[in-house]
Amino acid sequence: MKNIDSRTHVRGESVYLDDIPLIRGTLFGAAFGSPVAHGKIKNLDLSAAQAVPGVVKLFTYKDVTGENQIGGIVPDEPLLAEHHVHYCGMPIVFVVAESEDIARSAVKKITVDIEPLPIITDPREAQAKGELIVRPRTHKLGDTATAWAQCSHIFEGRTETNGQEHLYIETQGAYAVPQENNGIKLYSSTQGPTAVQRAVSRSSGLAMHKIDVDVTRLGGGFGGKEDQANMWAALCALAAHVLRQPVKYSLHRMEDMAMTGKRHPYSSDFKIGLDDHLKIIAYEATFYQNAGAAADLSPAVLERTLFHCTNTYFIPNVTATAYSCRTHLPPNTAFRGFGGPQGMFVIEAAIAKAAEELGIEATVIQGANLNKTGDEFAYGQKAVSEAHACWDKAIELYRLEEIRARIDQFNSVNLLTKKAFSLMPICFGISFTNTRMNQARALVHVYTDGSVGVSTGAVEMGQGVNTKMLQVAAQTLAIRPERVKLQTTSTYRIANTSPSAASATADLNGKAVELACTEIRERLKVVAAGELQTTAEAITIQDEWVYVNGNRTDWDWNRLVMEAFTKRVSLSEHAHYATPAIHYDASREKGHPFAYHVYGTAIVEVTVDCLRGTYEMESVKVVHDFGVSMNPLIDRGQIEGGIVQGLGWMTMEEVVYDKEGRLRSNALSTYKVPDLYSVPKEIAIEPLKTEQDNLAIFRSKAVGEPPLMYGIGAYFALRKAIRAFNPTAIIPYDAPMTPEKVLMALYPPRATPGSVRSAHEQTEVTARLAVNS
Ligand code: MTE
Ligand code: HPA
Ligand code: MOS
Repeated sequence: MKNIDSRTHVRGESVYLDDIPLIRGTLFGAAFGSPVAHGKIKNLDLSAAQAVPGVVKLFTYKDVTGENQIGGIVPDEPLLAEHHVHYCGMPIVFVVAESEDIARSAVKKITVDIEPLPIITDPREAQAKGELIVRPRTHKLGDTATAWAQCSHIFEGRTETNGQEHLYIETQGAYAVPQENNGIKLYSSTQGPTAVQRAVSRSSGLAMHKIDVDVTRLGGGFGGKEDQANMWAALCALAAHVLRQPVKYSLHRMEDMAMTGKRHPYSSDFKIGLDDHLKIIAYEATFYQNAGAAADLSPAVLERTLFHCTNTYFIPNVTATAYSCRTHLPPNTAFRGFGGPQGMFVIEAAIAKAAEELGIEATVIQGANLNKTGDEFAYGQKAVSEAHACWDKAIELYRLEEIRARIDQFNSVNLLTKKAFSLMPICFGISFTNTRMNQARALVHVYTDGSVGVSTGAVEMGQGVNTKMLQVAAQTLAIRPERVKLQTTSTYRIANTSPSAASATADLNGKAVELACTEIRERLKVVAAGELQTTAEAITIQDEWVYVNGNRTDWDWNRLVMEAFTKRVSLSEHAHYATPAIHYDASREKGHPFAYHVYGTAIVEVTVDCLRGTYEMESVKVVHDFGVSMNPLIDRGQIEGGIVQGLGWMTMEEVVYDKEGRLRSNALSTYKVPDLYSVPKEIAIEPLKTEQDNLAIFRSKAVGEPPLMYGIGAYFALRKAIRAFNPTAIIPYDAPMTPEKVLMALYPPRATPGSVRSAHEQTEVTARLAVNS
């Protein structure tokens, strides 16, 4: 089945925040953000801005009618700065005016006098100074301290992974419309309608039942709108509440880039020990997460880094510690993978380092350590593993032997162009790591004309969840998909929702839809049984017809629905689903946090131009554990998109803050994202069909986040290609691997006294370059 939004997307008819018709009298907001990253506000001069014709009101923290607080996990984030600022762009004033232009020109007239305070941008420096968002967390399995003695090979190193801008095509924004009796209706580009409702309730002082957050769809979220849509909604709601007029704010791209958080950069240390058979015996890792100036979702992201710190490998002795470090950057937040990719990069770097030092292919170590069913993760859950199945199938199907031989041959005759491949196996846990969040509800109405309206807590953000919800309803009720309509996501219809996140949206909301539709169907069967003088057990509904003991009757869907209505049988149902069997004890760091894991293996092939340092992504060939895909078209789209987004993170997207904490990569001229030309020339996706009785909706495993991590393979393939040209290249484990970094690694600077490179190594490099040229 096609994505139900395809048609309106292509015709430009799909409704996003900016497509909602404005009510007469609507005012426009714009935020004035701190010009410095850390300091004490000495004086704020609003007079010039106030004097701009058309300016209605300037809101500061003093105007907040409720609590000046929007922190979700930790209450450490004011809606508007009070006496201190903690990052560049931190909102200090919210200007409301008669037009967008007036609001923005008034923002430019605000001046603020800030006494500067020391600025920290480096997470290790923050950790050394005790600037932690939450207590450090440690996952432990076995005992690494004694395990080192069993290791024949021990390697240590340090890695860096940079941030990533979400770059949803629709920027952040909200539109708040006052209602009678102090109610507020909010249109918000949010993944978390309830998160917005809570933030608005808290900052306005209104009870949650007065706040309806209504979402049609987002032009992408990627985690960036799981928590960080709250700020703009709360500002608009505050202004609308005070002024009793509708207020809208949709951010300009550069405002969005400068003011919102991104994927967390991490700096990490690793130590890995292997025995003579290349079994990984022990692994230690320390993660320094750059959380930015407030907690936001950082503690949860930190937790997932630990959950995924051994990727898909079984390692009997693990000690992993993670610090969430407070710096003076915009609070970093959820981003596809939610800390998992950052953890997985480090173990892959450790394996790559071991392979490079031992002079073997990393695949030998990877393949020797894949987990098996029954193996324990450091957090206590036992694997139900598809790791070997995916790995073996990828090697066989895509003929790794031939790839290897072809690349060796190519490299032996091409001096200035080098190719390389890498394998990237993945394992990603499905469920919110916070057990309580794994619940969802659905409200299904069958109308008397036989059409069906479905409301859930799921937010459509391009991932196709509405299409999947529609499929669940149509299949469960045994009616044509055209009969079903997905309604907007509204906190008045579905309460206390979890954000659409953790790849779990279709599972959680889909199970609730299935429960609601099953309930209605069973009720209709009873009605049919009464009419047809048989038992409900004898009744089935197939393709909109009622069957008795397998024989079609003259009762169709419409007749049945109308009869149920006449009999005063409810044609509506509200159902609740909570993922069974999951639990986690954070004090022991043990439990069973995930409903299941998603596995896969990618083979990534790259070509490096060794004169320029530029490169091409030749192919990404994947065997992916789908379970049984309920919508192969949508799931393929998720995998392709995830791969490209992962490649972008690993190769070209470079978030740059200067020492003053100012974002330098603040526009698409300075921040490079993958375009059509950087998409791999070939993406092959082969399903691994698994029929486990898992907790996925219709056994169709969650697919949103896991494929992003295939992109990590590109980083390691690029390292190999560089080393094919310059075998002694010393390449820090520092992502993204931009063309600039590739060039520097291909042609290292000449050895100077005190340089780490030995004279012998340098001679070799120089000799090789001479040969090549
Ligand atoms: N795909 C599109 N097109 N747009 C998005 O914003 N977000 C990703 C992923 N795929 C996203 C996307 C993220 S971060 C998550 S967690 C999942 O979709 C959320 O949706 P799901 O739970 O329905 O998979
Ligand atoms: N993923 C996304 N969002 C979350 C999670 C998670 O695992 N846990 C809490 N919020
Ligand atoms: Mo996705 S990072 O869980 O929104």
